[in-house]
Amino acid sequence: MHIEKRVLVTGGAGFLGSHLCERLLKDGAQVLCVDNFYTGAHRNVDHLRDNPRFELMRHDICFPLYVEVDEIYNLACPASPIHYQRDPVQTTKTSVVGAINMLGLAKRVKAKILQASTSEVYGDPEVHPQTESYWGNVNPIGVRSCYDEGKRCAETLFFDYRRQHNLRIKVARIFNTFGPRMHPNDGRVVSNFIMQALRRQPITIYGDGSQTRSFCYVDDLIEGLVTLMASDDSVSGPVNLGNPAEFSMNDLAKEVLALTGSSAGTRKLPLPSDDPRQRQPDLAKARGLGWEPKTSLHDGLKRTIDYFQGLDIPEDVMPPKA
Ligand SMILES: NC(=O)c1ccc[n+]([C@@H]2O[C@H](COP(=O)([O-])OP(=O)(O)OC[C@H]3O[C@@H](n4cnc5c(N)ncnc54)[C@H](O)[C@@H]3O)[C@@H](O)[C@H]2O)c1
Repeated sequence: MHIEKRVLVTGGAGFLGSHLCERLLKDGAQVLCVDNFYTGAHRNVDHLRDNPRFELMRHDICFPLYVEVDEIYNLACPASPIHYQRDPVQTTKTSVVGAINMLGLAKRVKAKILQASTSEVYGDPEVHPQTESYWGNVNPIGVRSCYDEGKRCAETLFFDYRRQHNLRIKVARIFNTFGPRMHPNDGRVVSNFIMQALRRQPITIYGDGSQTRSFCYVDDLIEGLVTLMASDDSVSGPVNLGNPAEFSMNDLAKEVLALTGSSAGTRKLPLPSDDPRQRQPDLAKARGLGWEPKTSLHDGLKRTIDYFQGLDIPEDVMPPKA
């Protein structure tokens, strides 16, 4: 008899989590999506609710969870600065207490567990691009520390559970990812540019626009998470997942203006003094697992713009769908 794999996705109603749930269902797994809806949304998973292999549970991972599963993807945590800084104590709790609870569960039921860590563990990096062996340059007391240090501590816990309890762990360090279901108002550059262009407002560029960023399309990232989870038990990571291709803010704005048909142009403002230096993943380890990002920025932006156009945003500020 074929027994379906039971997979728990924490933060499953969020941007990445909802795509992961969808992918796991497609692969034939039973999926338990756990979320407290802090930044997640029902609309992200509504289309999955008719699937008999999908189950949605409202739960905060800061509290223990008793379920029977074979694999755990721990994605629960607000991810953009405006979200994780809104309640910084809760952000640290979700990262640290949440990790302890999910690791405890994995230990009890002997599940394999993957942690969604972040490139933020590298802080303001002094090496470029970042390899996983770089220890990072993080301020422990700044306004971003609740997230950066929370995620660093979660990594520590994962590796201590492996050393102390022989748990099968996987740690993915995720770099900037974009795509449908990202938050339209999360203050990040891709969503800002798209929303401004769709509202026919000039796109705001800070500085001269020559500074670069790299962006990974969500489908590629999800493929990376699934690949890492399926890797040999000897592979714990951390493994960088992202797209190393760099684009200047001017190029990104040009592409978004062309794809949205906006003629509102751009508006330059002075560069804030704390504008983070670029982070770019070294992907040697991920490539060693046979993974590689494939989606071009152009294709990814097109799909993301389609999604934003379909969102329920007042008519007067949204142009008709092309
Ligand atoms: N999107 C990116 O570019 C990116 C980059 C690096 C790391 N990550 C990591 O990937 C994960 C998912 O990020 P995302 O972009 O999908 O963010 P998101 O905010 O869309 O998703 C996070 C989800 O976790 C839920 N959540 C938050 N606290 C919770 C708690 N205590 N208990 C249960 N659920 C809780 C939220 O409601 C939300 O649905 C996060 O752990 C984030 O740190 C994302």
